Amino acid sequence: MAVLLLTAPVASAEPVAAVDEKRGRLLYLQCRACHALQPGGAALAGPHLGGLLGREVASVPGFSYSAALRAQSFRWDRARLDRWLEASGSMVPGNSMAFAGITNAPDRAALIAYLAAATALPAIPAAPVVAPMASHPVP
Ligand code: HEC
Repeated sequence: MAVLLLTAPVASAEPVAAVDEKRGRLLYLQCRACHALQPGGAALAGPHLGGLLGREVASVPGFSYSAALRAQSFRWDRARLDRWLEASGSMVPGNSMAFAGITNAPDRAALIAYLAAATALPAIPAAPVVAPMASHPVP
């Protein structure tokens, strides 16, 4: 037990993951003008990416997707994101995302790693915030 605690400092996990995430964050600057990472921001040219991994394609309510993207039926996973970021136009011809693509595979992997973390939706608290606890009656 003590050994586990001693060997698990945050800094020890750094080398590879930290480099990837930094690179990914930098690459996201190419997307930022059009995509928010989380729901609820200002309307941009592209849909927000909140909860992207596992999300149904073309499913952000109120966003006006192209017919081409709406005609698709899949959930976003890492493999599909990789294809999309490399060449969205050949993956879904006729889509309306004006982006040239990222030809470098390690760059795409770094960006996807960053997006996986940055677009994860915050966990919803299990207990309602306003409900008083029955075991602690107000005096
Ligand atoms: C010039 C604006 C623009 C840029 C830059 C851009 N996108 Fe997009 N993106 C769009 C638009 C518009 C759509 C919707 C396409 C459609 O409806 O055919 C889209 C769609 C997407 C989707 C599908 C979303 C869904 O709800 O199914 C993903 C994922 C995505 N973009 C990721 C990215 C990433 C990551 C980058 C940066 C590398 C990026 N985009 C750069 C405008 C942009």
